[in-house]
Amino acid sequence: MNVYDSELIAIQMATSGYQQTPSLEKADLVILNTCTIRAKAEQKAFSFLGRLARMKKKKPGLIVGVGGCVAQQEGAKILKRVPHLDLVFGTQAIERLPALINKIEAKRCRIVDVAMSENPDLFDPAPTERNHSPVARFVTIMRGCDNFCTYCVVPYVRGRESSRHPDNIINEIKTFVDSGVKEVTLLGQNVNSYGKKEGLLSFTELLARVQRIEGLLRIRFTTSHPKDFDQELINAFQANDKLCNHIHLPVQSGSNRILKRMNRKYTKDQYLDKVAKLRDTCPEIAITSDMIVGFPGESDADFNETLDLMRKVEFDGLFAFMYSDRPNAPATRFKAKISEPQKSERLQILLELQETYTKKKNEALIGSIQPIIAEGFSKKQSSGGLDEPNQATQWTGRTSTNKIVNFYHGDLPGSCVDIFPGKIVHVQIDKAYAHSLWGKPVEIEPTAEGSKGEKSYAA
Ligand code: 5AD
Ligand code: SF4
Repeated sequence: MNVYDSELIAIQMATSGYQQTPSLEKADLVILNTCTIRAKAEQKAFSFLGRLARMKKKKPGLIVGVGGCVAQQEGAKILKRVPHLDLVFGTQAIERLPALINKIEAKRCRIVDVAMSENPDLFDPAPTERNHSPVARFVTIMRGCDNFCTYCVVPYVRGRESSRHPDNIINEIKTFVDSGVKEVTLLGQNVNSYGKKEGLLSFTELLARVQRIEGLLRIRFTTSHPKDFDQELINAFQANDKLCNHIHLPVQSGSNRILKRMNRKYTKDQYLDKVAKLRDTCPEIAITSDMIVGFPGESDADFNETLDLMRKVEFDGLFAFMYSDRPNAPATRFKAKISEPQKSERLQILLELQETYTKKKNEALIGSIQPIIAEGFSKKQSSGGLDEPNQATQWTGRTSTNKIVNFYHGDLPGSCVDIFPGKIVHVQIDKAYAHSLWGKPVEIEPTAEGSKGEKSYAA
């Protein structure tokens, strides 16, 4: 969501005549878009802001702004804490950003704009072609959250849940597709409740509309809340052949007692039941999740319930976090806080267990042929400054199940054929690592068809 918002910020500033620069030193305006979901993210934001003090000393005309969730949360307090800061703008102020910057340019004043409305008109910039056009993009379909999980800061910094109009979403995706995008990830804190408040389409109806966009090959979404995850969405995986074989379904804990204290509104068994139904209908689906360890009051028995749930589900991947107190979140006031060493020990145990499942799931793919969309050069090569692809170029892309696959262009039989970003390449998986797969390309698909899963491979 922050990546998407950063793009909006860039679009907004382009309308004021600013251009992006890859070099921080060359910038006349630096905007830091921040996250405050966990304490660590907030600390990172402040340490980056601290580093800008020297830059501002050397270049007094430099304008420094901080936006996003830390800005929303701390407001004017950040101006006090960071003397070289010119602007603090909240999560609903991106729309006003050009005007705020103009004012700072003209008056050299310091500004705080963290105004939020109960029912924000979602900011819908005119869909423009963006200056770079990768293969996969994020599209925010809704903002805010009404769920109030007790550990979570989101409802306080992003405000109440509201959905964008489907026409705006569809237009934006069409503009992306016209500029070469093949895959979109629809973003919302709880996509299952898309459009409900506003009486718009349901989420599955939106998915059906997105599916009809010609030239778009793959659709992903995140995040679905387990309490609202239902058969209708399960059916959508079958009905919608562009919808990828992957779902991120954050469970947070396996203990009913902790789930209740988290205000998650489902039990361990209800979660397991939904996973079973999903796998019944879509046996190939990859399931990933989020987990919090060390929530206040979490006993060894609670933690064992979490490990038990992991053994029962066998997630394809897991994002695990140590609980941290967040401003305004009710759990911050909960007693029986877990010590840092204990949280850290539990995290270690959990990650070790998960590694066995991640490896097992990846190893199961050895020998299979996976259609992937070539996204670009692998990290190692892109940072090495390789501009022109050649036979030794190492490409990267993802399976429908969202697993990273790397391969050499030169391994393609008769490989004078070009691979370029957006091409569907069928890759035979040879090796499985903890976080990626390695394979040999066996075929490049000439048409846009058949990108979803193994089933669509025609030898
Ligand atoms: N402490 C630790 N993890 C948190 N998350 C959200 N709030 C907190 C917190 N206070 C995690 C949840 C969520 C993910 C995005 O971040 O697992 O799903
Ligand atoms: Fe936070 Fe819960 Fe909303 Fe997710 S559903 S953003 S965890 S309050």
